[in-house]
Amino acid sequence: MRYLVTGATGFIGLHLCQALVDRGDSVLALVRTPAKAAKLPDAVQTLAGDLTLFAGDVTLPEVDVVIHLAGVVAAPTADVYEAINFTAVKELVNCLERQSWSPKRLVFASSLAAAGPSSLDRAWTEKDPLNPIDPYGEAKMRAEAVVRDASFPTTCFRPCIVLGPNDSASLTLFKAAQGGVGIRVGSQAQQLSFVDVRDVITGILHMSDDTRDGHYTYYVSHPEAIDTERLWAGLGRALGRRVRVLPVPALLLRALVPFATLGSKLLGKTNQLDLKQYRQMVAPAFVCSSAALSEDLSWQAEYGLDATLAHATAGYRASGALR
Ligand SMILES: NC(=O)c1ccc[n+]([C@@H]2O[C@H](COP(=O)([O-])OP(=O)(O)OC[C@H]3O[C@@H](n4cnc5c(N)ncnc54)[C@H](OP(=O)(O)O)[C@@H]3O)[C@@H](O)[C@H]2O)c1
Repeated sequence: MRYLVTGATGFIGLHLCQALVDRGDSVLALVRTPAKAAKLPDAVQTLAGDLTLFAGDVTLPEVDVVIHLAGVVAAPTADVYEAINFTAVKELVNCLERQSWSPKRLVFASSLAAAGPSSLDRAWTEKDPLNPIDPYGEAKMRAEAVVRDASFPTTCFRPCIVLGPNDSASLTLFKAAQGGVGIRVGSQAQQLSFVDVRDVITGILHMSDDTRDGHYTYYVSHPEAIDTERLWAGLGRALGRRVRVLPVPALLLRALVPFATLGSKLLGKTNQLDLKQYRQMVAPAFVCSSAALSEDLSWQAEYGLDATLAHATAGYRASGALR
């Protein structure tokens, strides 16, 4: 099959492009940073440009499936989440509607953040209402609505925390654990869903191969929820060292947000503790169920926490990101 993949040079995108090429599909990747195209498998063809391409009167080569992964996870301001995670999705859908051909399916990477925090005793399912608590989740929620309005079949998927080699976002966790220190916000460990990037990829492939008409939405997670204590313990096992978990009062964390925001601006680095991250860290739980995806498309998460963390650690070490 022929695929157009956006966000191909990102964490999930690189794993996805490799999987598509491995199974003999042809891949056209939107690439805005030419240097990053070198990381893509040789068989991937590239379409130069960023997401603004779709706002113009562009004629896209015909493909069977469009997979829209491009998005911003850590933005300096709410406007950026709106522009990239909502407006650009709307423009992509409109652009596809203007083509002389229609995709058999558009698969869109939303996020568990679109649903917001779950309660301690129940995982989110697709039937639950969405209550995002930050501009990232809000933009993803609104983008999903636009995708579901498309005239061609679509699937929105909502991953929880995705772990795997070459993810710069989770590298911070691995580095902290490597340093022997983890944190727990408040008195109660946060409950979390997680998923191995290899399982996300098989999930995306199942969704891409879906030939049903209509619009579908799925959470993508491992069936077993963990909590932050188990995550730090697992990271310790993967890295072969003991991790001490320090409790950090939520108020102290909140007080640090302006300093982290200013510091990251001055240093020109991605802010690791902005208001979005703070809100996500103090929520009691972010747990979702992938039962619907398993039931509808026979997808199963294969990798548990230890296998996931061991695989990610090996990848970080191989790339030199971790000792
Ligand atoms: N990773 C997770 O845990 C997780 C969880 C839930 C949802 N998601 C969603 O899954 C998707 C992929 O996540 P990821 O972790 O792979 O993200 P990532 O590593 O940050 O990659 C983002 C990708 O989007 C591209 N991109 C961003 N802005 C763009 C623009 N204006 N024009 C063109 N391309 C643009 C980036 O291009 P460059 O390489 O040139 O920067 C990169 O290829 C995102 O939509 C994210 O919101 C991820």
